[in-house]
Amino acid sequence: MARDSARKSRKELQFERKLSQRSGEKIGVKIGNFKLASPTMLASGILGISFELFPRIVECGAGAVVTKSIGLEPREGYSNPTIAAVEGGYLNAIGLANPGITFFKEELEVYERTAAKKVPLIISIFADSAAGFAQLAGELDPFTFLAIELNLSCPHVKNVGSEIGTDPNEASEIVREVKKRTSKPILAKMPAAITDVPEWARSVERSGADAIVAINTIRAMKIDIESRKPILSNKIGGLSGPAIRTVAIRCVYEIYETVRIPVIGVGGVSTPNDAIEFLLAGATAVQVGSSISDPCFLEIFRRINDGLLAYMKRFGFKEIKELIGAAHS
Ligand SMILES: Cc1cc2nc3c(=O)[nH]c(=O)nc-3n(C[C@H](O)[C@H](O)[C@H](O)COP(=O)(O)O)c2cc1C
Repeated sequence: MARDSARKSRKELQFERKLSQRSGEKIGVKIGNFKLASPTMLASGILGISFELFPRIVECGAGAVVTKSIGLEPREGYSNPTIAAVEGGYLNAIGLANPGITFFKEELEVYERTAAKKVPLIISIFADSAAGFAQLAGELDPFTFLAIELNLSCPHVKNVGSEIGTDPNEASEIVREVKKRTSKPILAKMPAAITDVPEWARSVERSGADAIVAINTIRAMKIDIESRKPILSNKIGGLSGPAIRTVAIRCVYEIYETVRIPVIGVGGVSTPNDAIEFLLAGATAVQVGSSISDPCFLEIFRRINDGLLAYMKRFGFKEIKELIGAAHS
């Protein structure tokens, strides 16, 4: 079993960093106007907004880190239990717990002033209206970071039970309004419950999205047969992990067939082969979420990057872009 990088010597870590810089030439990718040294990212919501931890994730091979989704106001989220292990992954209903934009901006200011080395940071935001998303984007615009990811799976206020970004018109209005308030690239994260994926993808591309992230968790439920009650306090939660990978692969495949902007695949990535499958379906990069529960979680990015390089060598691919969408030809 690979050792946790926390226990590696500084020399070992420096050597690994050099290796990843070298491999970055081969597995580096471009999304919108920014470049990543590797096509792996930490998915939103997985390690919160831990500015102390983010540099270690990048040192371990991640091309970028995505923060937990930030909203206008602080939210405590739902009471426990908020997460349960189920067959093939996890069920979670955190309730968009977050410190709110004012506190987050204070943290960001400290980080910008004090961090020795900046991480390739993507900030995820959520709101229950296009105006809310636009306000958040405007408040973040003066800071230095790579891109804004729109969490379009926020519950709809008018339409209880649905997610705000499932309607392609609403999703594209959000992208349009956000673009008016920021010059940062916009990654539109697709809710899983889209029936017409090509229509949705076309709408957000037309409104100026720079990339599409697919997918968020799938609405699901587990009932405890002893208490005869749903396990989660919110009853319904979002399913993540390997159980949703085939759905995510299908979405990435359909999006790649429809639009020209890059797709970022997310859903059940834990091994190099999972990442390769996403790339062949058309993803330019992948995000890793639930697999971070692995005891050697920081090793996962390096394992995926090394596996990608080994696969490219085995089949004679010179650059990673030759792999992207190769399952379509
Ligand atoms: C505990 C937990 C919290 C999450 N929080 C967020 C979030 O704040 N914003 C968001 O866009 N997605 C959130 N997600 C969804 C993940 O970013 C990802 O889209 C999903 O889990 C599928 O990837 P995975 O199978 O690799 O976990 C969360 C997922 C989990 C498991």
